Amino acid sequence: MNTFHYHQGDLYCEDLSLAAIAQHYQTPCYVYSEAALRERYHSFSNALGDNTQVCYAVKANSNLAVLRLFAEMGAGFDIVSGGELERVLRAGGAAKKIIFSGVGKSADEIRTALSAGIACLNVESAAELWRIADIAADMGLRAPIALRVNPDVDPGTHAYIATGLKESKFGIPMDAARALYLEAAKHPALELKGIACHIGSQLLNLAPLGEAVTRVRALYEDLFAQGLTLEHLDLGGGVGIRYHEETPPSPADYAEVLNQTLQGLAVNRAVELGRALVGNAGVLLTRVEYLKDNGSKQFCVVDAAMNDLLRPALYGAWHDILPLRQDVAAEQVMDVVGPICESGDFIAKDRSVRAEAAQLLAIMGAGAYGFAMSSNYNSRPRPPEVLVHGHQHRLIRRRENWDDLMGMELP
Ligand code: LLP
Repeated sequence: MNTFHYHQGDLYCEDLSLAAIAQHYQTPCYVYSEAALRERYHSFSNALGDNTQVCYAVKANSNLAVLRLFAEMGAGFDIVSGGELERVLRAGGAAKKIIFSGVGKSADEIRTALSAGIACLNVESAAELWRIADIAADMGLRAPIALRVNPDVDPGTHAYIATGLKESKFGIPMDAARALYLEAAKHPALELKGIACHIGSQLLNLAPLGEAVTRVRALYEDLFAQGLTLEHLDLGGGVGIRYHEETPPSPADYAEVLNQTLQGLAVNRAVELGRALVGNAGVLLTRVEYLKDNGSKQFCVVDAAMNDLLRPALYGAWHDILPLRQDVAAEQVMDVVGPICESGDFIAKDRSVRAEAAQLLAIMGAGAYGFAMSSNYNSRPRPPEVLVHGHQHRLIRRRENWDDLMGMELP
């Protein structure tokens, strides 16, 4: 599906010209396509089939309107904080479809999740397991849990987003997990539901995932042989997307890897997809403030910055940059930079872009980990978020104002 496309030289989102949206909401501004969000969810849930619950990883884009759309389509949710739990519940998500991941759940977060009646807490250490058991016993209920195992595979992605290697802080080593399951099974306040794993994000090659799932299956079978029957396997998220010239796995490729590795195993599955569902459903619109020539280097200074979209600064990530009007400027090689006072504040380095002063650009692939990782650094109000549906657009988060920036401070 071609959600963002040129029509008579103008870049469109669905049936709306992005220039018209920029005119209406000003820049910088995040724009999401409802059709793309729907299409991505349905493609994955159809490819994965009835035995797999697609859980949306809220951290990728946690706007309430986006969450509501996923809830309406039947998604479950993967959360990592009390804040994300509150968001999902406010957006109408069902508690019984929520799984709670993360290495540092606080006692308050655990209590709130248990009283909400979520489906499962993915436990990342023995210490966390016993804390959950104590809290559940205290509340007079049984906590539904899975252990998140660390399968020790290299996902072949950026070091900051690889999570399944033994030196990473995530998960419980396989052998330790085996022993911990058997101990946990004896605790009256724990209800052992499944096994979870997540090896990393922006996976372009699914072989490491297949390897991890094979190890999870072996653990499942081992526990089964010892009389412990679990209900589900949570295989994490991490399916990559195309930012530039990558060839990411399709929903069918992904389903195939899971089906092959889990063949013959009658157990429910869950996945925790973030980026693959929202990444290419969103763009960040920005306006060129100045072109600047430093003799040896050309800069295109835009009104979006690392506080709005951190990925290039943090990971050296590539985002395509397209002009909203195709035929305006000649191509030039430039650094596309924001107004923030750091040399790390760039959107692109040595990039061939069509840009001239006052012109509008779209930073592509900004639907995941875009707004969600934004900040107010340099006292910059965060941009608005707009949802497009056919010919219609709807503000789903207004631009921050000075009161939003300073209203919580006590001078
Ligand atoms: N499940 C767990 C336990 C996770 O830690 C993550 C992502 C996901 C699911 C969803 O992964 P996805 O399907 O979106 O790849 N800020 C980085 C990405 C950080 C990912 C953190 N964990 C970025 O901008 O590339």
